[in-house]
Amino acid sequence: MFTMKNSTKFTLPSALFCLAAAFSYAAPASENWDTLCAKCHGAEGKGQTKIGKKLKVKDYTDAKVQAALKDEEMVKATSDGVTDNGKEKMKAYKGELSAAEITDLVAHIRKFKS
Ligand code: HEC
Repeated sequence: MFTMKNSTKFTLPSALFCLAAAFSYAAPASENWDTLCAKCHGAEGKGQTKIGKKLKVKDYTDAKVQAALKDEEMVKATSDGVTDNGKEKMKAYKGELSAAEITDLVAHIRKFKS
């Protein structure tokens, strides 16, 4: 017999599980971008932030910049980070992002092209 009490018992753990899954395993690319990448690359991908300007990040709304970038290079840069003469310019994200999240972020960057 399903009373209100019973159904609460069954749905609460599954609701919590869904929340945990949504927040800790696969955040959407737009969310990862805003929390992890935007401080340097800018919310719109232009790189016009204080750190972005200092590090001279590329403008991802520029079609020429986009055309010069290969998907594999972007995945590699995000996974392994970017160094310049041994100096870290961007850290590696493979520890905190899954391969799928990184591929999604690359697709997200592609959408900045105007
Ligand atoms: C501390 C600042 C900083 C943060 C945070 C950062 N980046 Fe970068 N990123 C750089 C710099 C500096 C470069 C090298 C200059 C360039 O290519 O624009 C770079 C390069 C890249 C490249 C390679 C472009 C190429 O030329 O091959 C990609 C792709 C990229 N970043 C994606 C991301 C993603 C995705 C995130 C978030 C998960 C992120 N970045 C977070 C600073 C940052």
